[in-house]
Formats: sequence, structure tokens, C-alpha cells
Amino acid sequence: MSNAKVLQLRAAGVSLVLDCSGPALPSVLHWGADLGALDEAALVSLREGAGAVQTGNGLDDNKPVAIIPEYSAGWFGLPGLNGHRDGQDFSASFELTEVAQSGNAVQVTAADPQAGLSLALVIELTDSGLVRAKAELTNTGTSVYTVDQLLLALPVPTEATELFDMTGRHIGERHPQRHAFTQGAHIRDNRRGRTGADATLLLIAGTPGFDFGAGELWAVHTAWSGNHRSYAERGMSGYAVIGGGELLLPGEGRLQPQGSYGTPWIYGSYGIGLDQMSTRFHEYLRARDTHPKTDRPVVLNTWEAVYFDLDLDKLKALADAAAEVGAERFVLDDGWFRGRRDDSAGLGDWYVDEGIWPKGLHPLVDHVTGLGLQFGLWFEPEMVNPDSDLAREHPDWILATGNRMPPTARHQQGLNLGIPEAWNYLLERIDAILTEYDISYIKWDHNRDFVDGGNQQTGTAGIHEQTLGVYRLLDELKRRHPKVEIESCSSGGARVDLAILERTDRVWGSDSNDALERQKIQRYTQLLLPPELIGCHVGPPKAHTTGRTQSLAFRASTALFGHFGIEWDISLATPEEREELAGWVALHKALRPLLHTGRVVRADRGSDDFLLHGVVAQDGSRAVFSAVQVAQSITSDLGRVRLPGLTKDRTYQVTKLATPGPQPRHSAPWWQDGGTVKLNGAALASVGVQVPAQWPETAVLLEVQAID
Ligand code: DGJ
Repeated sequence: MSNAKVLQLRAAGVSLVLDCSGPALPSVLHWGADLGALDEAALVSLREGAGAVQTGNGLDDNKPVAIIPEYSAGWFGLPGLNGHRDGQDFSASFELTEVAQSGNAVQVTAADPQAGLSLALVIELTDSGLVRAKAELTNTGTSVYTVDQLLLALPVPTEATELFDMTGRHIGERHPQRHAFTQGAHIRDNRRGRTGADATLLLIAGTPGFDFGAGELWAVHTAWSGNHRSYAERGMSGYAVIGGGELLLPGEGRLQPQGSYGTPWIYGSYGIGLDQMSTRFHEYLRARDTHPKTDRPVVLNTWEAVYFDLDLDKLKALADAAAEVGAERFVLDDGWFRGRRDDSAGLGDWYVDEGIWPKGLHPLVDHVTGLGLQFGLWFEPEMVNPDSDLAREHPDWILATGNRMPPTARHQQGLNLGIPEAWNYLLERIDAILTEYDISYIKWDHNRDFVDGGNQQTGTAGIHEQTLGVYRLLDELKRRHPKVEIESCSSGGARVDLAILERTDRVWGSDSNDALERQKIQRYTQLLLPPELIGCHVGPPKAHTTGRTQSLAFRASTALFGHFGIEWDISLATPEEREELAGWVALHKALRPLLHTGRVVRADRGSDDFLLHGVVAQDGSRAVFSAVQVAQSITSDLGRVRLPGLTKDRTYQVTKLATPGPQPRHSAPWWQDGGTVKLNGAALASVGVQVPAQWPETAVLLEVQAID
């Protein structure tokens, strides 16, 4: 073992102090505000001062909770490792064997020779101040060892007494919910075989009443696209933790001798307010080599425009209209492949349908690219309709168990990517289509939860392999076609996590293009993801998912803040609508360098009728805010609206941002006739400005420019 004892990692205002003095697994002595550089004596002192105390009727040697909490060390909460060797070795007790530090990355190895297990842990503090950790467990014994669960946990202080997480549904993803963080465990399990529309992107513990701008908070994200758990647990020992890991189905963690199981990355963020948490995640994602570098092309997606009604002339007219309003990418959604006339048949038969496309997709692709637009194509590779040639030829490739078929969902079943022949078939088919056509973008869909997700050939559970299989497939396609961008879509936003985003370039936020729903869905999806990674489209005037009718200004000013697109049959729109839409596309193009690189800031005003959303340039030189009237206000005058996130001692000019289309008359006196307010960032954050009284489901945009 090295001499490393107590290690301090520091970045972006965060200190992480790890007790690696052994022999027990590392524990986190501090994860929170930066402590300045502590010398060795101070770090040892911190360990002594922060150590566990002995309590009445407790263990004589009470230990702090380790990053993998151990039953053997006296942790009575959820154990980090649950597993056994045919009933034996049911409780591991690891001892450190090696600690290595390289910059802000710590690698720890540990072993329990008695149980025949070794462990490799990686704990990092990223430049943006995120903690991330993962573990790999190896069976060093001579018989099969079964991992039932391997969770990683980060301690949070006693002061974190409130929990915030998210739930949701198809067309209604990311509803926030709050709870008191009391004794016991708050567990968010997901067994849907995909990340889930109801999955919490983040599980957050904080001081009472924390909000976008205030309160200390600690958050965790479990980066996994299959079954997974995120949890918060407060034990009687005085420790509280937040953590997560994969949820393994029975037998999925069987390790042969020398076999290994690796956990997903668990990400943690400490900071003040939800906005700082988002900033840490956004900066981390933006610093990746794979983060999209080019302006995010304005999309026209055919789904809500034509659904399955694919006709070459109609699609060409739609592409013409898309080009006319300034779109830069045309995406042909579902329905182009063999036998797919509606959602009941064809999934799995990834050949261009000869009936609709006698000359293949060439006439459409050539037309679209001839207009100067990129061409994108929809796939749903992990699925199969029972009514398909693929299912008829390979019924054993369907994810199933027990000589029965799972209940269908949207008339479909899962295709088992754990079967090499099925995986190879998909690779060959998608690769062939990407090779034949000039395709810049894949919309990669996944439209059902898996039930009974088993491997018929082996009789074992198949979701773990399925998840790894889709990662491998995406990785191989990216290797072969590095310029093709891929969108992670899953009935809208049911596959949003940082593991899928290691191999995809954006997510589809939701199947709801209703701007009112979208305001909230985008607001909370942006807790984790920067706006440029979230597809946000202008739908038709009457939303197909709610029946609400909204103005083009409200629909477009809502989509404006994400990766902008259109999902509406604009070949049928009026000339006035098209002209206005072209104005919004132009406005988005002008603003996207700011919107897609700036810092996201938000404010609530203690009620659900109004929300403020903004993006501030990294250098604080400018910002755009959207003041959104979600519902009718109780009061007729909103009062002043504070504009957070600007540089306190810089002077700014605030003006109404000119938007296309009909202009309502506004009631804020300074607002009329091109008026401006000139104030410093401190005053704008603390005093704010009056915004006009608005009707429900309208928004006004404010432009803020530094003038000093
Ligand atoms: C679900 C997606 O979320 C939609 O956008 C669309 O692609 C349909 N699937 C197509 O079946």
C-alpha cells in the first residue's frame, strides 16, 4: 500500500477529502465547499475531528460509512455490495491494497481474499467540480460468485434535510417533487429496461427550501440506460448518503472465476442552488471531446407533420418549405422501411420499403441534400414487431422468458442484443443504409418498457446485456461513421442519462410539443443537460398531445432555448405563419452562439403561474431572458422580476428583444417604444425590472447587454 492517507481534491470551489488510510475502503470525510489547500497535519486533524463517535448500545468501533457501504463495517443501511457464492461469502470485508493519485483522479484497489473478491475503485473530481466514481468487482475465487447489487454512495451532512427528485410519464417527463429527508431510504428504482420517462435525472439533498439560486445542495446522477437505482438514505448512525448503481435482475451478476462486473459512473454535484449544479454538469459535458462543436442545425422532423403518410412528392414539398424557412436538417421519421404502414408491423425489417420507394430513398435524399439540408433518418433498432419478417424468421431473438411472450407495448417486443447474431444483423443493416445514403443524423428511438426481459436461448435475464449491447452497437456505428450524429429518443425523453450521451449527440426532450408542457420539461431536463443537447421543436398550432392551441410566438420562444426544430406540416401553413416562423428560425440562428454556450439561470417566484429562464454569456457580457406567463396570475401586476446571474459590478442595458410576428401592446411603461433600463448586475439581481402583464401562455424576451 502507498503512503497516501488523507487526500484532498479541489476544483471549481469544491473540496473532496477522502480517507484512504485504510485498511477499510475509502470514506468521504468532506464533500462540499472548498476548504483551501489543507496540509497533511490539517487533513489528519480533519479525519480525527470528523471521525465516528461511539454511542450507547452501538458498536465499540463505529466507522464512517465507506464509498461502498459495508455491512461488515457496521453499516446497517443499504449495503454497497450484495452478493454471495452459492450462499457463502455473503458479506465482504475489503482491505485496501493500493492507492494511486494522478491529479484529481484517485484509483484504489482493495481485496477480500477470504471471500475471493477484489475491487478497483475510481474516484475523480472533474474540472467543473463534479465528483464521479465507479467500481469494478472481480471474482478471484474458484467458483461462481453472484453480484446482486453494487452501489456507490456519497455522504451528505446532517443539514441536508430536504430531498428533490423528478418523476414523469410519456408526454409529461420531469415533474419535480420534494420530500423531507427523514430517517430511512428514499429509493428511485427503475426496472423498465431503459432509463425511463419517470426516472429521476438527479436525486438532490439540500438545506431547507433550496431553490435555483440558493441553498446548499448535494446531487447524484446514476449514468445508466437500463435498470438502475438512485437513492438517499439517512441512517440512525448519524450518516446520510446519496448514491446509485445498476439494478441487476436475478443472475445478471453471475461472475465466473476471474470474471468482473463494472458499475456505471455515479456523478455527484455539490453547490449553492440548482443553477450551480446545472452549471457543473453543463461545463463537464461541454468539455468532452465528443461534445457537438458545430452550430446545432435547425431541424425539420416529419413525425407530427405527416406521421406514417409517406409520399415522395409530399415530403419534397415539406423539404422545400423547410428550406424556405431556414431549416438545416430534414429528418425522415418512422415509416420508411419494409412493411411499416402503421405502428403494428415492420419493426426489425430494416430495408427501404420497395413499395413506397421503388428507387430507394435516393430521390428524397438527393432532393433534401440538393436544397442544402442535411438528411436524417429514424431507426428503432432494439425493437421488433411480431408482424415482421425478422420475428417470423428468428422468434428466439425476442427478449422473453418462460416459454411465453411478454405483453406487447405499441405492438412490439424487444430484440435481444445479447444474441450475437441479432446484434450483428442490426450492425450490418444500419451500416448498409448509412453507407448507401448521405445520412448525417440518426434519430434512434426506443418505444417500450421491457417486461420479462430474458434471453430465450439461455433462460437467463437479459437487460444488463441488452444495455451493454446497445452501447457497443452505438460505439461501433460511431466508429464506422464518425460524422453521423445520433439522437437518443425513447418515446420522447425516456432515455436521458450521461451514459447514453457518451455515444449520442442530443436527446429528444419529449413527445409533447405543447409549449406549456415543454416549458417545464425543458426547465428540468436542463438541470442535467445543456440546452444544445435537448431537441425542442415548434409543433402545430393545436398541440397533438394535449389539444391546447398556442400562438406561434409562444411555441417558438419556448423551442428557442434548446436545439431548435420544427415538427409541423408547414407546407400547409399560411404564408404569414411561414414568414413568422422564418423570423424565429433567423432569431434562433442569431442567438444560438449565446444560447448554446452560456450559463443557464432560472428563477421561481414562489408560485406556478410565472417562470423566468435565462442564459448568460460565460464572460457576463450579455444575456437573454424569457419571462413566461404560464397561467393567469393571482395578482394583476406581477411586480418586479429579478434577473439573476449577471456580473454584479457591470452595467447593463435591458431592452425588449425584437421578435417576429404580431406584437401585443405591453403595459410596462419603460417597455414601450424601444425603452431601456440601465442598471448594474447587482441591481438587476436584487431589484429587477418590471415586465409587462401578460396573458397566460405567452412569453416576452429580454435582451441584456453590458455597456461598460
Ligand atoms: C416516438 C418518438 O418519440 C416520436 O418522436 C416518433 O419518432 C415516434 N416514436 C415514431 O414512431
